Amino acid sequence: MEQFVVHGGNPLVGEVEISGAKNAALAILAAAIMTDETVVIENLPDVRDINIMLDALSDIGAHVDRIDRHTAKINGSTIRSLSVDYEYIRKIRASYYLLGALLGKFKEAEVALPGGCVIGSRPIDLHVKGFKSLGANVEISFGLISAKADKLVGNHIYMDKVSVGATINVMMAAALAEGKTIIENAAKEPHVVDVANLLNAMGANIRGAGTDVIRIVGVEKLHGAEYSVIPDQIEAGTFMCAAAATKGDILVKNVIPKHLEATSAKLIEAGCSIEEFDDAVRVVANKPLTSTSVTTLPYPGYPTDMQPQITAVLAIANGTSVVTESIFENRFKYIDELNRMGSNIQVEGNVAIVKGVEKYTGAEVCAPDLRAGAALVIAGLAAEGFTIVDDIHFIQRGYENFEVKLAGLGAEIAKVSSDKELTKFMMKVS
Ligand code: EPZ
Repeated sequence: MEQFVVHGGNPLVGEVEISGAKNAALAILAAAIMTDETVVIENLPDVRDINIMLDALSDIGAHVDRIDRHTAKINGSTIRSLSVDYEYIRKIRASYYLLGALLGKFKEAEVALPGGCVIGSRPIDLHVKGFKSLGANVEISFGLISAKADKLVGNHIYMDKVSVGATINVMMAAALAEGKTIIENAAKEPHVVDVANLLNAMGANIRGAGTDVIRIVGVEKLHGAEYSVIPDQIEAGTFMCAAAATKGDILVKNVIPKHLEATSAKLIEAGCSIEEFDDAVRVVANKPLTSTSVTTLPYPGYPTDMQPQITAVLAIANGTSVVTESIFENRFKYIDELNRMGSNIQVEGNVAIVKGVEKYTGAEVCAPDLRAGAALVIAGLAAEGFTIVDDIHFIQRGYENFEVKLAGLGAEIAKVSSDKELTKFMMKVS
């Protein structure tokens, strides 16, 4: 079993290059099968979830050619199955994007029903509502969700709640529907825009992505394209928080600073200085950290995927911070682990009261999910002594070469897979 072992205390200093956005890439790979022509996707992050999505595409018969670590050539002309196996949904919920992609292209799709997950109950009622509005007959039975239509016809769809997944899924299906679809109360996240940009590059007619009203005029078919995925704003934000927690000074490269505004704003409130460049941000944390309040909200609000990482920073800031999670009900599972490292955080429902402590002390902790795992690593980087993070397979779902990038900034961190390797690392850095 692989673990991260961290010897805390070094301020992060230097430059780090951000990879492509995992959550954009997952939907983009699904959209790539919507034409019979070849689509080349660049700047894919080399992380577990992407590799699973590529396997899911191959499994239904698409031709997947991994040209290099960050580039894949997809051809959907050879698809022979419209049914996506439970194995993929179990590993990555985002394989439900194949529902919108296959329904749009073939007017039929079947995907195992995703259940809840560690961060919350994760319903898919809005996806279903959207597909039904386009004229599909959607059935949920025997653990499967199947959607079928003689033809899809554009419609006016109001999303009762802002949902990234439902917006993207409905947008994909509507791209190949007859007539005009309007999605109201759409998600505005950068990855919604990225998927719309890819679809438009493939010949779709989608306007308004990035605002809360998306207008789609269906086209008969899509064509091949070459497309590069946007940088990962959550990976970038994670490194920014790591710099803040370790009193560091880092340049985070290959980012779109606009996508990082919420994270930057909170780090500035916490006492960091942030300098924005065209495609980089510099974070300097040379003043004492101070408390602030954070509420997670859909974009452009503060991202739920950055909630654990900022909490890990605020836990060692002067004063009491209040962190409110308004998107997923179970996203404070890591707090007990953080408190084992010396923080003083109390959770009441969806609110965490974070009483800043002077420092973390290293401990062996368990990553409960992807972003919470990253937060525990951040705490370990700032802690006195050694921290061992278990269940790092969660972290590897979404962070490419996490430990290598951190080590490049001066962190003492290693991935180990045996007690022998663990002891060797500890001896080396002590
Ligand atoms: C995406 O999940 C991301 N995943 C999540 O990132 C992220 O936390 C989330 O958006 C919010 O930003 C991917 O992009 C693959 P939602 P998604 O639909 O699309 C409710 C990570 O760490 N809802 O925007 O599944 C839902 O319960 C992951 O990288 C419904 O009620 O999230 C939640 O409260 C974790 N009915 C809210 O909407 C629905 O049909 C937002 O969820 C769908 C969602």
